Amino acid sequence: MITMDDIIREGHPTLRQIAEEVPFPLSEENRELGDNMREFLKNSQDPELSEKYQLRGGVGLAAPQLDISKRVIAIEIPNMEEEDGEPFLSEVMYNPKVLSHSVQQAAIEEGEGCLSVDRHVPGLVIRNNKISISYFNQDGEKRNIRLKNYPAIVVQHEIDHLNGIMFYDHINEANPNYAPDDVLLIQ
Ligand code: NI
Repeated sequence: MITMDDIIREGHPTLRQIAEEVPFPLSEENRELGDNMREFLKNSQDPELSEKYQLRGGVGLAAPQLDISKRVIAIEIPNMEEEDGEPFLSEVMYNPKVLSHSVQQAAIEEGEGCLSVDRHVPGLVIRNNKISISYFNQDGEKRNIRLKNYPAIVVQHEIDHLNGIMFYDHINEANPNYAPDDVLLIQ
């Protein structure tokens, strides 16, 4: 089971590497890696388990954050409309790629956080509001999906980890809270 002790923090060189593509058919090791990553996110959102194991809540995790330089991300975005409903997006993505994106940009109004960053970094992280991505799932099937708003931001944050990019790399140093008028601010 993955805990916070398994997550490397900013400053670790693996977080700055370009991660390797995952070969298919999927090895047992790479399948389990995905399972464990998704389990971590679910546990981190469970009030009892997160307390018991001292997990910081997360909606996304990338394999490089476990010091494993492979192109694997897990996404677990709860259903914002019904508390007990199916998650909005619960998926392990291998070799995810952004195929296209909107011209419209967006940022989360309160800024972003990261399980590998133990401090609050204020500032807007301006990303694309809509993305179209492809990835392979755990059954080796290629999927193409479109995402917008918050889920699109989360997936871009995680794909960045596969390319050695941290969220604060996108923050305007001179003016961290500046966004052009046409950037959608997400609450
Ligand atoms: Ni992160």
